[in-house]
Amino acid sequence: MQMHDKILILDFGSQFTQLIARRVREAHVYAEIHPCDVDPAFIRDFAPKGIILSGGPNSVTGADTPRAPQVVFELGVPVLGICYGMQTMAEQLGGKVEHGHVGEFGYAEILAHSHAKLLHGLEDFHTDAGQGVLKVWMSHGDKVNAMPPGFTLIASTDACPIAAMADDARRFYGVQFHPEVTHTPQGKALLTRFVREVCGARADWIMGDYVEEAIQWIRRQVGNERVILAISGGVDSSVAAALLHKAIGAQLTCVFVDHGLLRLNEAEQVMETFANHLGVNVIHVNASETFLQKLTGVTDPEQKRKIIGAEFVEIFQHEAQQLVDAKWLAQGTIYPDVIESAGSNKPGAAKIKSHHNVGGLPETLHLKLLEPLRELFKDEVRELGIALGLPAAMVYRHPFPGPGLGVRILGEVKREYAALLAQADAIFIDALRNTIDPHTGKSWYELTSQAFAVFLPVKSVGVMGDARTYEYVVALRAVQTQDFMTAHWAHLPHELLGQISNRIINEVRGVNRVVYDISGKPPATIEWE
Ligand code: XMP
Repeated sequence: MQMHDKILILDFGSQFTQLIARRVREAHVYAEIHPCDVDPAFIRDFAPKGIILSGGPNSVTGADTPRAPQVVFELGVPVLGICYGMQTMAEQLGGKVEHGHVGEFGYAEILAHSHAKLLHGLEDFHTDAGQGVLKVWMSHGDKVNAMPPGFTLIASTDACPIAAMADDARRFYGVQFHPEVTHTPQGKALLTRFVREVCGARADWIMGDYVEEAIQWIRRQVGNERVILAISGGVDSSVAAALLHKAIGAQLTCVFVDHGLLRLNEAEQVMETFANHLGVNVIHVNASETFLQKLTGVTDPEQKRKIIGAEFVEIFQHEAQQLVDAKWLAQGTIYPDVIESAGSNKPGAAKIKSHHNVGGLPETLHLKLLEPLRELFKDEVRELGIALGLPAAMVYRHPFPGPGLGVRILGEVKREYAALLAQADAIFIDALRNTIDPHTGKSWYELTSQAFAVFLPVKSVGVMGDARTYEYVVALRAVQTQDFMTAHWAHLPHELLGQISNRIINEVRGVNRVVYDISGKPPATIEWE
């Protein structure tokens, strides 16, 4: 990669660490997250323009809790500690931290006390006495009760007298609140201030420019060798395909395994966009027969996922082996996948569902792995897709799971059910795309993060015309979420739900009842299986 100015984020285990990196990158500065116990030599080689220490679940007053490597404070670059990051900074530099008996969680207002560079001019409102007040989001039990030598107090609340501290000479700052969350309205401005003005990092992380940089990087890696890539129609693999095609043209071959559990007309759309429109080499493998056969009689969700994943790998491998001179396997891995798999060996993390469907391929195929999106967040992947000329409807598509309709047909998967579900789903999505919410001016498709229909293989009684019916049920699911880890059900207008229900019952033969799922995650998950 080209030399960007870089911010290093050391992760002490906060659930918000990714948000810090996202906010920094929104300021057009490149940032990477690494574990808090990373090797000091790595930190030196990384040559950061500044370092941010994240929050974390531990208490610095406890035995064997993590500390920042000492080199962080010796490099001569600015350091910002957030929450636990501030506490460990205080403790390591000679201050004191008190173990909290009463925590402070949620909204707080802090008074800004001085004109330290970090907070100067940032405020949500000011007191009658003219003192700036920031609305912030707090989440802590412990707090700093004595600042290290050289620091001055720059913000306080009643519950937390040392809410922010600064040593402008060394450019070390600590904030007890969380500037990375959207509940801290000036948080983004604070982080921008830190990386751009305090660290002096160049604002050169821009997706439109990144296209050329990524192309050069791919060409250097690949030379004149051939690359294969599995495409699914999802955002990540689509953007990876468009980028690779732009970089290496005919050296790229895409394999599109159609398992017969796709959305309505999806296979045609994928072929239309990639093969016809962009001129990418795409091998379309229609394997729906094989998949459906393997799934006969299988009702357990994890079992279904395993079968679909294994069959996918089998077919993909078979296709890859035909391309004898392929040397590279490209994957649409994105930065959150990289961070999550680094963190996935944390003890005690319970597996709820197995989401990754194509693991292990590079080893069995003896191919080198090429991951052109592994540094990008989802928003950046989308921006890149637009910069590459992909249709907005594809780039802003809701996520669709690898096993597709296979996990949206409860219990055994049958061709007849899949056809019926694809039709109901298309009616639902079409209505969401075409209904504009007057308050926001956006479509309900844009206002929801993921929406889809689910097939319930139970029959209920209805009446159509003068006749009794005894047919299947379709459930509609629409959620709003930032990260898909937690989600709210979407408050779709009742009239819209009514129209969708009518259309599904009238147009989809075999369905006489539609229900709307009003469960949050947790306790439910987004998918029904
Ligand atoms: P859950 O249902 O766990 O879903 O709340 C969270 C997100 O993950 C997607 N998902 C999957 N994606 N393979 C995938 O590629 C899977 O097996 C899978 N299961 C769930 C889900 O659609 C949602 O976006």
